[in-house]
Amino acid sequence: MNYEILIKEAVEARKKAYVPYSNFKVGAAVFTDDGRIFSGCNIENASFGATNCAERTAVFKAVSEGAKYITAVAIVGDISSFTYPCGICRQVLAEFASDMNMEIILAKNEKEYIVEKLCNILPGAFTKRDLDKEKMD
Ligand code: THU
Repeated sequence: MNYEILIKEAVEARKKAYVPYSNFKVGAAVFTDDGRIFSGCNIENASFGATNCAERTAVFKAVSEGAKYITAVAIVGDISSFTYPCGICRQVLAEFASDMNMEIILAKNEKEYIVEKLCNILPGAFTKRDLDKEKMD
């Protein structure tokens, strides 16, 4: 995975963030196992709970275009520190991750980034495998 290309897509998506309430722009870009990139921004709402984070926008765009598995995601939020995905987005990423080694690229820009793994930021994840176990009982 070329991290810089994915970060660049997230940087571009961040420019489209709709953030009249927080003024906190976030951009994300996901890389799928079939080689495609989908990006997204956060989209806020006057009813705050209806806000959609950038990561989920990108994931939902990918899945609605037929992508099955995501291998990496780049996230650009605050440009002076690294913005980690919120809890809900970690859970949504786990649902479509190719595996728990999915790469989470936290970037300030194309040159300054760190790479985490989903298993390290969402240990003990509850996944569809847990539901399958229940069915086998
Ligand atoms: N936000 C994201 O887009 N992704 C995250 O993982 C953290 C939070 C957005 C939601 C809201 O529009 C703004 O950042 C402030 O919470």
